[in-house]
Amino acid sequence: MSISTKMKTFLERASWIRKMFEQGAELKERHGHDNVFDFSLGNPNLEPPILFKTALLKATQAKGIGHHAYMPNSGYMSVREAVAGFVSSEQGIKLAPDHVIMTCGAAGALNVILKTILNSGDEVITPAPYFPEYNFYVDNHGGVLKTVPTKPDFSLDLDSIEEAITQKTRAILINSPHNPTGQVYDEKELIELGELLNNRIRKGDQIIYLISDEPYRKIVYDNVRVPSILSCYSESLIATSYSKDLSIPGERIGFLVVNPEARHREDLLAGMNLANRILGFVNAPALMQRTIQDLQGVSVDVKFYQEKRDMISEGLERIGYRFERPKGAFYLFVQSPIDDDVRFVQALQEELILTVPGSGFGCAGYFRIAFCVDDDTIVRALPGFERAFERVR
Ligand SMILES: Cc1ncc(COP(=O)(O)O)c(C=O)c1O
Repeated sequence: MSISTKMKTFLERASWIRKMFEQGAELKERHGHDNVFDFSLGNPNLEPPILFKTALLKATQAKGIGHHAYMPNSGYMSVREAVAGFVSSEQGIKLAPDHVIMTCGAAGALNVILKTILNSGDEVITPAPYFPEYNFYVDNHGGVLKTVPTKPDFSLDLDSIEEAITQKTRAILINSPHNPTGQVYDEKELIELGELLNNRIRKGDQIIYLISDEPYRKIVYDNVRVPSILSCYSESLIATSYSKDLSIPGERIGFLVVNPEARHREDLLAGMNLANRILGFVNAPALMQRTIQDLQGVSVDVKFYQEKRDMISEGLERIGYRFERPKGAFYLFVQSPIDDDVRFVQALQEELILTVPGSGFGCAGYFRIAFCVDDDTIVRALPGFERAFERVR
């Protein structure tokens, strides 16, 4: 193969995902698409809100020249004004449009941030379980991802984070609401985390950035509040997108925010602006920027996901599965009834149920169910979940 050694290694490391995908496709081919219960992907199964279609239509009909031309790398000013206005009210901190850069999804935002702040060999700490793409994103920019354990309910274990910090630590990367556990960090733990990081600055050790990856911010249940990260720590950066709350992950639109209080905000913003360009994104898609300009605060009906969460939780609890009910996002992270999560995921496959082993998220002994699927899929899969559970015990 004429590809780099690193990509070869990555392909091998990611091969179990590919294998699962291939096995799933094979099962669908053999048994028919509708007879395989696919809980493996975080692909929203809701149509975007009707307002999205209206705004998109309006954006396509804009008159004048230059609507499809290059623009400032950080995005249209009018769009950044709209985003900054909404995020200011959401975060309780006044943002100017200059604190916002439009990106190609949350993934684009994370890569832009990491490219800007990492030197070769710098460490980024993330609590496990974690979104597996973080490994690749951090490596893309010469960094090293270090994982730390969380508490049994997947809230932050601040002692573990503190112990893991070294002179090389450049950032802590958190995700709330969380993929794969559905945990939402509360204000107290975020303030304490901010305090811990501030202590490093006070001692003159180093600035450690807190990167908050929050594409699920609007998908929360039971009136849970997602705290303002910008208020908890001044050296904080947000990476987010409209992928999940508007059900448009294929459109690749998101943004990043630099805390207006961050000491080196001007350098950070200049670096991120350039990173957006030289990573090859150049700028976030023009049509999508103009579309979301009119959609600040709009989201899909979260009740829809909450009902699915309740339906699948009740079904699995009745069978005897153990898990924390998610406070947000659309995933259940369930304890495998046997230690070997990969083997249990295979047992579920025998029931034509596709899930993802916790090992893939750095947390063996669990498996992930993405419940952004039709109600019918949940109802018809429950007997298979029960048979697999009984069979392995
Ligand atoms: C935790 C987390 N971060 C980032 C992303 C990437 O989001 P986007 O599609 O907006 O780039 C995802 C997508 O599933 C995710 O689950």
